[in-house]
Amino acid sequence: MTETRDTESDSEYVTLTDSVSNKSVDLPLLSGTEGPKVIDIRRLYAETGYFTFDPGYMATGSCASNITYIDGDKGILRHRGYSIEDLAEHSDFMEVCHLLLFGELPTPAQKEKFEHDITYHTMVHEQLNFFYRGFRRDAHPMAIMCGVVGALSAFYHDSTDITDPHQRMVASYRLIAKMPTIAAMAYKFSIGQPFIYPRNDLSYAENFLHMMFAVPCETYEINPVVADAMDRIFILHADHEQNASTSTVRLAASSGANPFACIAAGIASLWGPAHGGANEAVLKMLTEIGHKKNIPAYLDRVKDKSDATMLMGFGHRVYKNYDPRAAVIQKSCHAVLNELDIKDEPLLDLAMELERIALEDEYFVSRKLFPNVDFYSGIILKAMGFPIGMFTVLFAVARTVGWIAQWNEMIADESQKIGRPRQLYTGVGKRPYVPLEERG
Ligand code: SDX
Repeated sequence: MTETRDTESDSEYVTLTDSVSNKSVDLPLLSGTEGPKVIDIRRLYAETGYFTFDPGYMATGSCASNITYIDGDKGILRHRGYSIEDLAEHSDFMEVCHLLLFGELPTPAQKEKFEHDITYHTMVHEQLNFFYRGFRRDAHPMAIMCGVVGALSAFYHDSTDITDPHQRMVASYRLIAKMPTIAAMAYKFSIGQPFIYPRNDLSYAENFLHMMFAVPCETYEINPVVADAMDRIFILHADHEQNASTSTVRLAASSGANPFACIAAGIASLWGPAHGGANEAVLKMLTEIGHKKNIPAYLDRVKDKSDATMLMGFGHRVYKNYDPRAAVIQKSCHAVLNELDIKDEPLLDLAMELERIALEDEYFVSRKLFPNVDFYSGIILKAMGFPIGMFTVLFAVARTVGWIAQWNEMIADESQKIGRPRQLYTGVGKRPYVPLEERG
């Protein structure tokens, strides 16, 4: 493969030469605003008769996007140009939602209107409440989320026409606004408490805490420290370019499916322990390890290739450095525990020791495995009073805006096509049909 510059048009391309036929094809080289250049292989099959083979998309860009940028080697994450550290420190979740959806941080007037519009979509259709009764009380809340969010398309018929930009925006607002309500209802159902209706005088994070933890017979005082931490956790999980669940949303949407169905597909993908389900898995892992003295034996199992044990909350397809979100959450962990007067959280001590040992271990160093966003988030969520089964649900609540922003970007892109990968067929070739009586 050679890289060439076409001096007349100043466009760059790479030349692929087939060593069998000796034929060459020039493939355009595309440049984004940042990040590595990309070989445009769209004409490859038409011109050569070859497909590419890239299971797991190790080297494949599935779309162009101007929402989120990650430099995995340097540990950089930016939304619309703003660093995640700046957003986590100076912004709030509603601003970040506006930024992801519309490309800019809101002006004061825009912010007021955006918050108002989101707030007035937080209630769900009363009939939706009855859906919950169809679930077992011990159902995992993510199972309930998949079902109930998918069912939204049965209720909000006036925002399912994806060709209408106004309907798309109404669906976007509805999903961002209703997700905390649906999530809190899943929790309330699991513990047998009445559903708590949203309150429009509260912020997004406060309202979520209220719907989660209030009961009708008492006044619920929102702890501002917990509300701030909640808001920051929402910011840190809001978007992460073409991760598995976002790619799932885009693929589902590429067929023209309605937004509620697409987001339900994203929730299903997020649930897996290799993705958003890792926050729950980390807490289970720390509980299983139990004590610092057990860390070396646990890491031996992780490093043993005949054992399926993984160090949950470690490793990332893109980050070959510390996940910047993990760094922010780790710092927040200490602050929240201090503010909540939790003097000693054995799981945090254990996690920090586990991180320290892993980061000095040749296995993790050579593979560039660092803590990711899920490593510390469970500890902070536990301190805030969330049950472990809700951890991935919180991720889904926060990621909804990212899914929706990416969905809107894709639908508005006129070059968008149905997603349809090809395959390397490895099955048997053509063979004659054998009648039943001749088989055996
Ligand atoms: C999220 O993509 C995103 O952006 C996701 C996310 C988002 O915001 O949307 O950031 C959120 O999903 C975070 C990731 C949460 N998952 C976990 O914490 C689960 C544990 N991590 C691993 O399963 C894994 O690291 C992945 C799934 C996150 C990434 O997998 P890759 O990119 O396919 O890497 P790999 O499996 O090919 O690993 C490379 C090597 C392998 O060893 P060798 O075969 O080369 O010897 O590293 C090893 C792996 O076995 N490895 C691990 C490990 N992660 C990778 N070994 C032990 N423990 C681990 N956690």
